[in-house]
Amino acid sequence: MAIRINGTETRAPADPRVSLLDLLRETLHLTGTKKGCNQGACGACTVLADGERILSCLALAVQFEGRSITTIEGLAGQDGMHPLQLAFIEHDGFQCGYCTPGQICSAVGMAAELARGAPSAVTTDLGAATVRFTGEEARERMSGNLCRCGAHNGIIAAITQTYAGAAL
Ligand code: FES
Ligand code: FES
Repeated sequence: MAIRINGTETRAPADPRVSLLDLLRETLHLTGTKKGCNQGACGACTVLADGERILSCLALAVQFEGRSITTIEGLAGQDGMHPLQLAFIEHDGFQCGYCTPGQICSAVGMAAELARGAPSAVTTDLGAATVRFTGEEARERMSGNLCRCGAHNGIIAAITQTYAGAAL
């Protein structure tokens, strides 16, 4: 069974030990997804699997046969960049850019979590159908994505512009 990556059916690697991150970068040359720590600690490798954010360095590619992966290269639509990509530019949400693809994919996944009411450690109403966007929620939910350049204020500003008040 194939893995659908940014809309294209891709054969899973024959070697079951290959991580999704290595399949993306080394085989498919989708180098937007970054390898930072390669052990689940930095968030640089975050991609979306059927809309849920995952760490591709901790995922075996073969686990995703029959599923749909979206990387930073697949986020833009026919009309151009994703609104969050534009907001990152507007708010200087990056310096070197190494963490940026992971930050953006993670924030897209975070918005989906809010929309379906998935609580975080700071959510007070655990029974709500949707979780309201707040700065505290955004900081908590984005805490797994590290930025060594210290662009976190711009990152949160971009995410806030895109998702605060939006119908998630
Ligand atoms: S490279 Fe995957 S979390 Fe750091
Ligand atoms: S922009 Fe350099 S690590 Fe975040």
